[in-house]
Amino acid sequence: MKENELILILDFGGQYNQLIARRVRECNVYSEVVPFDISIEKIKEKNPKGIIFTGGPASVYLEDSPKCNPEIFNLGIPVLGICYGMQLMMHTLGGQVARADKREYGTIEATIDNTSLLFQGFNKTNGFLMSHTDYVEKLPENFKNIGYTDSCPNAAVENVERKLYGIQFHPEVNLSINGTQVIRNFLYNICECSGDWQIASFVTESINNLKEKIGDKKALCALSGGVDSSVAAVLLNKAIGKNLTCIFVDHGLLRKNEGDEVEEVFRNQFDINLIRVNAKDRFLARLAGVSDPEQKRKIIGEEFIRVFEEEAKKIGTVDYLVQGTIYPDVIESGLGKSSVIKSHHNVGGLPDYVDFKEIVEPLRNLFKDEVRQTGLELGIPENLVFRQPFPGPGLAIRVIGDITDEKLTILKEADAIFREEIALAGLHKSINQYFAVLTNLKSVGVMGDERTYDYTVALRAVETKDFMTGVWSRIPYEILEKVSSRIVNEVKHVNRVVYDITSKPPATIEWE
Ligand code: XMP
Repeated sequence: MKENELILILDFGGQYNQLIARRVRECNVYSEVVPFDISIEKIKEKNPKGIIFTGGPASVYLEDSPKCNPEIFNLGIPVLGICYGMQLMMHTLGGQVARADKREYGTIEATIDNTSLLFQGFNKTNGFLMSHTDYVEKLPENFKNIGYTDSCPNAAVENVERKLYGIQFHPEVNLSINGTQVIRNFLYNICECSGDWQIASFVTESINNLKEKIGDKKALCALSGGVDSSVAAVLLNKAIGKNLTCIFVDHGLLRKNEGDEVEEVFRNQFDINLIRVNAKDRFLARLAGVSDPEQKRKIIGEEFIRVFEEEAKKIGTVDYLVQGTIYPDVIESGLGKSSVIKSHHNVGGLPDYVDFKEIVEPLRNLFKDEVRQTGLELGIPENLVFRQPFPGPGLAIRVIGDITDEKLTILKEADAIFREEIALAGLHKSINQYFAVLTNLKSVGVMGDERTYDYTVALRAVETKDFMTGVWSRIPYEILEKVSSRIVNEVKHVNRVVYDITSKPPATIEWE
């Protein structure tokens, strides 16, 4: 296997750690986030072209603050320390870090030495995001100041000979002007990277590696139609062809026509060995009369695993189970103690009774946007690659209260109209998640001369980057009007449409 150039990112617990890794990859250099206390042996084994220390909330002069092995600085590998990472480098090498009276925060103009390799191409001043209280008061021997702000005397430092660099600001965030250029300069001018990380080569290499690893053995994949499992399945299919079997459990809680679309893509377009299990009746039977959202989730998760296991049993022993785990799910916390590794499967856990020898996770090292690029590279249709997030329990948590077949049909139709109009208006790229909810509320209406007593549909649309917080989307009135009028005219048993104008927090994106 060809080794990619690697940049190791030592995680000291700062909030932008993953962003640093992404920025490095955007510069076409592969990066990995590792705990700050990684051993010297491990670093040597990984053989990185450079090391970046992240920021972090601690103060270096406190006894229990996270520290790296000081030997790192003697490896001859270039190091860039960011914020806490810089302070730690200075402190470890004999400099002094002190606490300022006041926190420096915001995009602040720094005067920089643009003859330094780190600031090549910059003007003499540049705005960077500063966010710190501690600062480097005195430099270690042989370090030179290459940047300062009004309140921070050592905003950037270097020791060219030892290829050690430190910056007090955060180049990885957009609030730093041309911040990525600082990272690019470190990678190309100082670490002498050539930039060999590209999705196209990742795809070819992964296919070759999977071929080599799996050979003519058998693999099984649970396909949900979501981006991650779809990309993982196609990658495996390219590597081992018909030795991959995908099981697609259609719980009947997908959106209108979605089950058929998934089947069409995977069976016809990619000629994947696909088993589709139409299990709607089973799921609805188990969900009958259940209105508590958490109970619904639990039932669906359990039933999903059960159906999957039953199908897997028919196949018998397989060698590999494919999982669509992605990088943010596996990065260990910088503080090494509480490693956050969550089970990726978004409706349940791992199946207990599937007979397999090993798990393969071909997307384990990719960020979400890289997974999407991989999908495009593999020829997966755009509408699937850029599919908005869809919860594992599906429409079950968008029918408020108990679920019936009739309610599901109403919701599917209303939701399809909403999605169609959003796409027609060209808003599907700017709104990150949008869907209809069937509220459990009936109200009085009038249709022709008749009184009606029917359901209220709520429309939900949010703009968000991380789905942790978000604002309701300001969809133009004309579009809302059209959606509302189409829904009440075209969908039986709906006589009222409302638009949810709450942000998250305090509301959540889903209603259940
Ligand atoms: P909330 O509703 O918590 O949702 O604001 C945040 C994001 O998570 C999705 N979501 C789920 N995804 N299983 C999933 O796989 C679930 O049970 C689930 N509940 C919410 C939601 O669609 C949104 O993108």
